[in-house]
Amino acid sequence: MSLMTTYNPLPIAFTHGEGVYLFDETGKKYLDGLAGIAVNCLGYNHPALTAAVQDQAAKIMHCSNAFTIPLQIECAEKVVQLSGMDSAFFCSTGAEANECMIKIARLYGRQKEIAEPVVIVMEDAFHGRTMATLSASGSRKVQAGFEPLVQGFARAPYDDLEAIRTIAKNNPNVVAIMCEPLQGEGGMRVPDSDYLPGLRQICDEHDWLLMLDEIQSGVGRTGKMFAFQHYDFTPDVMSLAKALGGGVPMGACVAAGKAASLMQPGNHGSTFGGNPLASRAALTVLETIERDNLLANVERVGGYFKQQLQQHIAPLDGVVDIRGQGLWLGVEMQELARPLQLKAVEAGIIFNIAREKILRFAPPLILQEEHVDQIIKVLRELI
Ligand SMILES: Cc1ncc(COP(=O)(O)O)c(C=O)c1O
Repeated sequence: MSLMTTYNPLPIAFTHGEGVYLFDETGKKYLDGLAGIAVNCLGYNHPALTAAVQDQAAKIMHCSNAFTIPLQIECAEKVVQLSGMDSAFFCSTGAEANECMIKIARLYGRQKEIAEPVVIVMEDAFHGRTMATLSASGSRKVQAGFEPLVQGFARAPYDDLEAIRTIAKNNPNVVAIMCEPLQGEGGMRVPDSDYLPGLRQICDEHDWLLMLDEIQSGVGRTGKMFAFQHYDFTPDVMSLAKALGGGVPMGACVAAGKAASLMQPGNHGSTFGGNPLASRAALTVLETIERDNLLANVERVGGYFKQQLQQHIAPLDGVVDIRGQGLWLGVEMQELARPLQLKAVEAGIIFNIAREKILRFAPPLILQEEHVDQIIKVLRELI
């Protein structure tokens, strides 16, 4: 095997997709309840995205950030307009977007003359696999073997405002809180409705940055363009990736107010970040979500999906809990969920597993009720 043994893939190779369906080498059809883990938000071969990428590929895919890239500026303007924030930096992956976020927190600390700035991060968080982001993550599985970890993080339990207040009392070096609005890898956890506004309030009281990792929750997944928009506040920094390019690698670190202009030329960069191809893809994704009213679709079909899970799946033996928001739903099982996942794939339904026992659905945002019915039918029979 010439591949490094990083992954443990199923022996299925997809050749193409259409809408919410995928096809493998044997021609077998699958209903995609995962979208490449919350990436392929417009599904497969979406006419607008396919045409935009083809057109852009024929013009120019890459130059360098040493030159002006009008499409990148247009993309930044779109992200700023949609988020109500002020500036964007583009990269290619989620981990990179979070690296930028952490670097902004450190610049902010230096500006406040804090020599060793600390960012509060959460238990069970997942922020990526680079050294800083795995250090920020709250899973020993992600960190083990890669010590020494990057310093400068203090950890609190998720969804626990008191724990944050205790750190605030004891640690004068804190400059920011970094947090997922809903924990995806951490088990599809939805916090109490007062948690995120509470974090915003604590940050305001202490002059800290509120930095939200919206890499999985952003770009329509929860029924708003960004998950923080379910509330009445704006973060200081937000990271995006996954669905932003609809399958073309594109990440962003978006900042507001005092955080928006901390980066100076030479502080940060990326060769590929925001190149013409990725920027064109992201612009098309964002415009298509708006034009096709996909947020309303997520709300409607996601609501239907959750209701169907609650009605038909929750009462079954072995099912512990149903949770999530929009088209981002988890089914917690009593037992390890891998055997169920494998049977579902055999039956033509794709989802994956978080924390070993939680079925995770993050389908394309174009999913319809009839697809939900198909998933529920198979799931019910298999469980
Ligand atoms: C919340 C969150 N942050 C960061 C990442 C890392 O993104 P990437 O794999 O693109 O580096 C992920 C990926 O699953 C994620 O879900």
